[in-house]
Amino acid sequence: MQLPRRKTPLFLSTTMKYANSNTRKNSNLSIFVVIFSVFLFAGFMYNEDVKSIAEFPFSRPKPLQLPKNSLLENPGLATNSRIAKENNSEENFEKTGQPINLKMIVSKENARVIELPVIDEEEDVDVPPKDCDLFTGDWVFDNVSHPLYKEDDCEFLTSQVTCMRNGRKDSLYQNWRWQPRDCSLPKYNARLLLQKLRGKRLMFVGDSLNRNQWESMVCMVQSVVPPGKKSLKKSGSLSVFRIEDYDTTVEFYWAPFLVESNSDDPRMHSILDRIIMPNSISKHGEQWKGVDYLIFNTYIWWMNTPKMKVLRGSFEKGDTEYDEIERPVAYERVLRTWANWVDENVDPKHTSVFFSSMSPLHIKSTDWNNPNGIKCALETTPVMINNSSPIPLEVGTDRRVFVVASNITQSMKVPVYFLNITTLSEYRKDAHTSVYTIRQGHMLTPEQKADPNTYADCIHWCLPGLPDIWNEFLYADIVSSTS
Ligand SMILES: *[C@@H]1O[C@H](CO)[C@@H](O)[C@H](O)[C@H]1NC(C)=O
Ligand SMILES: *[C@@H]1O[C@H](CO)[C@@H](O)[C@H](O)[C@H]1NC(C)=O
Ligand SMILES: *[C@@H]1O[C@H](CO)[C@@H](O)[C@H](O)[C@H]1NC(C)=O
Ligand SMILES: *[C@@H]1O[C@H](CO)[C@@H](O)[C@H](O)[C@H]1NC(C)=O
Ligand SMILES: *[C@@H]1O[C@H](CO)[C@@H](O)[C@H](O)[C@H]1NC(C)=O
Repeated sequence: MQLPRRKTPLFLSTTMKYANSNTRKNSNLSIFVVIFSVFLFAGFMYNEDVKSIAEFPFSRPKPLQLPKNSLLENPGLATNSRIAKENNSEENFEKTGQPINLKMIVSKENARVIELPVIDEEEDVDVPPKDCDLFTGDWVFDNVSHPLYKEDDCEFLTSQVTCMRNGRKDSLYQNWRWQPRDCSLPKYNARLLLQKLRGKRLMFVGDSLNRNQWESMVCMVQSVVPPGKKSLKKSGSLSVFRIEDYDTTVEFYWAPFLVESNSDDPRMHSILDRIIMPNSISKHGEQWKGVDYLIFNTYIWWMNTPKMKVLRGSFEKGDTEYDEIERPVAYERVLRTWANWVDENVDPKHTSVFFSSMSPLHIKSTDWNNPNGIKCALETTPVMINNSSPIPLEVGTDRRVFVVASNITQSMKVPVYFLNITTLSEYRKDAHTSVYTIRQGHMLTPEQKADPNTYADCIHWCLPGLPDIWNEFLYADIVSSTS
């Protein structure tokens, strides 16, 4: 039973400061942070929406006969093949690994006792200067500021990502903060973010890694919203998390290649032959129109095979013949289609567009000099790079695709914020779900957990965890804007 609630409006003065006052004038602005609603609950009621979350079908569809290389639905099957690096001759990637000095704190781990900081609502927001490169920096152990929320406090997390609940014993992977070299990320404040998102729609569009980031964002905002005032609904390709009092939605739209493909069914996408229509985007695009913040990605579904199957004709006409095109070439065609759509359909005055670079995999432990490792399964700390003898980290990311994405997003009419998360995430071998996850809708059995070589998922990430950091980059941009 819910008692009548009292609304207590309060004014919060928030000072926006640029961390580097040489390049930016300080600007103070008062932000009217509305309504702090006090809810009294005599009981705890779950409505239908909340109930349905338990079955929220991020899980896999029915088991299908999958080919050996179909690791996206069956990460474990990739054991013997390095999907990200089919052949060393493909390795003409630029080496961008920069020396990162990890300030490791070796500590007796106090697993499961994770305390969250008390957020002081009136504190200043340090907005990084616009020209600061946020993506070059260090991982810093910081169990005071991170994690940003507790696993147990976010009912919306699916069992794909709740690693601790699924049996993971170490928890330090939750405690790393990203420290840019030349400035700092603003301290996360959920209320301030909700203020900025009031009356707006934020939508992630892409594959399961963007869904991973969407789940993170849902948790990052939901903590300050009382039960009953938030809901999660899924219909078809679209999942919508709604926060009633703010008239805000945080959404996810499944489109693993951005353009149309035969893998667009969010539930039945275990397709053996993945085939795309690189020029067809408007059907999906209809769902993106008018959204205030759009965050796109596409990568992991490209990695099964070195060549992409491109349909001749259209699925609707029943065409089945396809050409096989080299991955970077097909990727560029798709991103040009996407870029044209954005340039033609997005009004940059109303919509901010982001593109996330590739989320890396960690499937070969010798990549980080751990001959005794098993994929990512035994890793509990980030890769530490020795500053005095820096060796670039190479975990098999297809950098050719990175270059295409970075180039295209820089050359568009509509400005696109390139979320350059690839390199910094490559250091996070410790942050994957590994065997503490589900497979085809079911929690791994003890026998499967004991066989990480076959079953570890070194693609997706635990939450709380790395995707929260990706969202901190989004956060920094969203709270920087004055509107
Ligand atoms: C790449 O693959 C080809 C054909 O399978 C093989 O002959 C060649 O040795 C491979 N190159 C490397 C560097 O593994
Ligand atoms: C944070 O880490 C320090 C150093 O390892 C440790 O002494 C402290 O107990 C930790 N605090 C929490 C809340 O985990
Ligand atoms: C992306 O960030 C890495 C460091 O994390 C940096 O080395 C690289 O130059 C950046 N690339 C782009 C295109 O911004
Ligand atoms: C880092 O590299 C230097 C030079 O090769 C070496 O002397 C030093 O022991 C290394 N430090 C660590 C922690 O590996
Ligand atoms: C990216 O842009 C640079 C500079 O314009 C150009 O040299 C390079 O060929 C481009 N690469 C791709 C893959 O488009």
